[in-house]
Amino acid sequence: MVITLLYVLIFLLTLLLFHLVKMRSEVPRKRAKLPPGSMGWPYIGETLQLYSQDPNTFFASKQQRYGEIFKTHILGYPCVMLARPEAAKFVLVTQAHLFKPTYPKSKERLIGPSALFFNQGDYHIRLRKLVQGSLSLDAIRNLVADIEAVAVSASSSWSSGQMINTFHEMKKYSFEVGILAIFGHLEACLREELKNNYSIVDKGYNSLPTNIPGTPYKKALLAREKLSKILSDIVSERKEKKLVENDLLGCLLNSKDDKGEVLRDDQIADNIIGVLFAAQDTTASVMTWIVKYLHDEPKLLEAVKAEQMEIRRLNEENNQPLTWRQTRNMPISYKVVLESLRMASIISFTFREAVADVEYKGYLIPKGWKVMPLFRNIHHNPEFFTDPQKFDPSRFEVAPKPNTFMPFGSGIHACPGNELAKLEILIMVHHLVTNFGWEIVGSESGIQYGPFPVPRNGLPARFWRESITC
Ligand code: HEM
Ligand SMILES: *[C@@H]1O[C@H](CO)[C@@H](O)[C@H](O)[C@H]1NC(C)=O
Repeated sequence: MVITLLYVLIFLLTLLLFHLVKMRSEVPRKRAKLPPGSMGWPYIGETLQLYSQDPNTFFASKQQRYGEIFKTHILGYPCVMLARPEAAKFVLVTQAHLFKPTYPKSKERLIGPSALFFNQGDYHIRLRKLVQGSLSLDAIRNLVADIEAVAVSASSSWSSGQMINTFHEMKKYSFEVGILAIFGHLEACLREELKNNYSIVDKGYNSLPTNIPGTPYKKALLAREKLSKILSDIVSERKEKKLVENDLLGCLLNSKDDKGEVLRDDQIADNIIGVLFAAQDTTASVMTWIVKYLHDEPKLLEAVKAEQMEIRRLNEENNQPLTWRQTRNMPISYKVVLESLRMASIISFTFREAVADVEYKGYLIPKGWKVMPLFRNIHHNPEFFTDPQKFDPSRFEVAPKPNTFMPFGSGIHACPGNELAKLEILIMVHHLVTNFGWEIVGSESGIQYGPFPVPRNGLPARFWRESITC
């Protein structure tokens, strides 16, 4: 009797336990629902809408309808867009392990699968340390004189009276600075081969991915193979001469993992191409915007000019070149750079992919879905930046609220090149305002997305030398 009762009790307890466990496992599924939003057509989804207009317009209309978190379909994937600073932090920083980077395969093929931004976990941490180290303040402070020389030579043809495409000119400059950070001084002949082949790869990034011979994408793939060859030539020369340098290539070559293994040639090549890619158009588009913003705000230009002329006067007096310390003490110009980064928000958003079902604020983000932190929306939200459409560097006299200013992203994949980018921009500003005057050709304004936002047609402009006596 007692035993029977005990059995019944155990049976009942087991049932209860089973039920509890079942309920527990069901709780999040039951409670969490998908975010609001419309999905559009399955494959094309709302991609066309996103890419055919200012991304802000797309997001703003969505945000108005659905709030700060909503679902949509982009490039064939279901996707959740996030427009709150704390949501961006959740995805990029605190729960970064639940969200892996994701890029189109066609881009990964051109750059190389071992490049930093495609990876996660131990390999990413190892490579990131190397890249970050070679682009740290301590490393780049030694580059000031070389970067200045690049700025001088890149702009030497500007005052010929011809109209120039500002964006193209800035791309030449940012490419050369990238080469400097990666290789230090590179033999002119190798540099030319690298530059010419890379410019073919560059044309492939935004073209239709296809293997048909003669198409820009196919040509880019072939040029990418040549780049591998050139890079391995550079590497074997370094090994032969036993050169130990502390530029990026040197760091990559010297690295050994805990088992003493060095990096493979393809891992080195992928990361070098990756850095060239990450460094060029980004920095060039910001500088193009600065040329426009300064042109449009004569008072501001005067203030920047006064700041930079004072530095130049001092340097001419002491017969010295621009110094690292001076680049760290350009308060007006620096705020112009920050405000340009905010205003132009050239990386409007980024993509991650959920590696598991994730719940955020009561919403379910299913495994495999993409998530997009919307940097540009955050940068243009009046709640965080009053009068957001106004170009006002003085707003940076007060530090922005946490997680509201992310021109370089955030967390484990945040831009390791951000200090170099700001340094080369400041050096260009110094050189620009102390040597040149400029006017923008054509009054048409407008933005082109290629894919970074740049003033239409690359901002055609005419530059002339201003022989100012200090
Ligand atoms: C104004 C110029 C630049 C801007 C606005 C910018 C912005 C960004 C952003 C937003 C990310 C993160 C993307 C994400 O989380 O999905 C990133 C990553 C990266 N950037 Fe930059 N960047 C700039 C210049 C540079 C330069 C000059 C370099 C190198 C010399 C560079 C190298 C990289 C690399 C290697 C990554 C990948 C990091 C990783 O995945 O761990 N960037 N950049
Ligand atoms: C591309 O690189 C190869 C070396 O692998 C070189 O022979 C060729 O001239 C380069 N192409 C251009 C357009 O410079």
